[in-house]
Amino acid sequence: MLVLGLESSCDETGVALYDSKAGLLAHRLHTQMAMHAEYGGVVPELASRDHVRRILPLTADCLKAAGRELADLDAIAYTEGPGLAGALLVAAAVANGLGVALGKPVIGIHHLEGHLLSPLLADPAPQFPFVALLVSGGHTQLMAVRGVGDYELLGETLDDAAGEAFDKTAKLLGLGYPGGPALSRLADQGDPTRFTLPRPMLHSGDLDFSFAGLKTAVLTLAQKHPERDQQTVADICAAFQAAIVEVLSAKCRAALKQTGLKQLVVAGGVGANRQLRAELDDQAVRRRFKVFYPPLELCTDNGAMIAFAGAQRLAHGRPAGAFAVKPRWDLA
Ligand code: KG4
Ligand code: ZN
Repeated sequence: MLVLGLESSCDETGVALYDSKAGLLAHRLHTQMAMHAEYGGVVPELASRDHVRRILPLTADCLKAAGRELADLDAIAYTEGPGLAGALLVAAAVANGLGVALGKPVIGIHHLEGHLLSPLLADPAPQFPFVALLVSGGHTQLMAVRGVGDYELLGETLDDAAGEAFDKTAKLLGLGYPGGPALSRLADQGDPTRFTLPRPMLHSGDLDFSFAGLKTAVLTLAQKHPERDQQTVADICAAFQAAIVEVLSAKCRAALKQTGLKQLVVAGGVGANRQLRAELDDQAVRRRFKVFYPPLELCTDNGAMIAFAGAQRLAHGRPAGAFAVKPRWDLA
């Protein structure tokens, strides 16, 4: 079964070919990050237009790299939602057009299902069931993943996503966009004990998160130090990172305890954070669970996860849907 996967829900155009026997044959990604940087965030109209420009050349390139042709496809999977409506429509239109032209099934995939299943493409891969912490610019969720189509939402952010909190905090400290990686680099040079920031919802007794208040606390702290030297900025970054890492790691532990599961998968761009990894690795040893960090190219938005989820859905007999996009869509 050869499945083409198309992803265009936000600012990344992803295309991939997944074969149910041979695995991932090829994948291509184009990120629009540089294009949106000068606006300080994703501009939806620019995003859709760029997806239109990229998606067909990337598809052709992917087929060529895999030594396959359109006629070899058994199905086409695309991200049906959630995401930016105009951006989603690009992959939806291409997938459905190809489906009609080739007479092959078209499968709309929930973007978060793609993220949740993508760790299974990595080596080593976790086994079902596992707890997934999804921490990207758009999502912060804890899920129990028990099998294909069997997902339980354990907790999620009530306001900003973790990556969004990194980016907004970086922006108010003048570190550019998307500032998460820059903030985290500076944080590694800072003293996390010089300033103390709140740990939002650490003791809330549930698995939800809230990061908007933390960003506001950084703003207040920054205003107290208007003439900041480089070390002060680094110390503020370190305090922010320590707060966010402590909350994420505590909630992961609580999710494992609540579900009785022994494997944790960390997916999404914030999963690249060194401090978060160090903390979770340490906890994993002390509390005897296994933690998996799939390669970043599988953690961030990509076509491979959509092709893979499509193949899994096909194998589990899910019928192809109608041409649709769902900009707002809960998975569980
Ligand atoms: O999963 P991703 O590539 O894209 C989506 O959001 O869909 O995640 C990007 C997010 C951004 O908010 C970025 O600032 C954050 O992940 N990020 C980081 C780090 N690397 C990327 N945040 C903290 N520390 C990092 N090292
Ligand atoms: Zn995503």
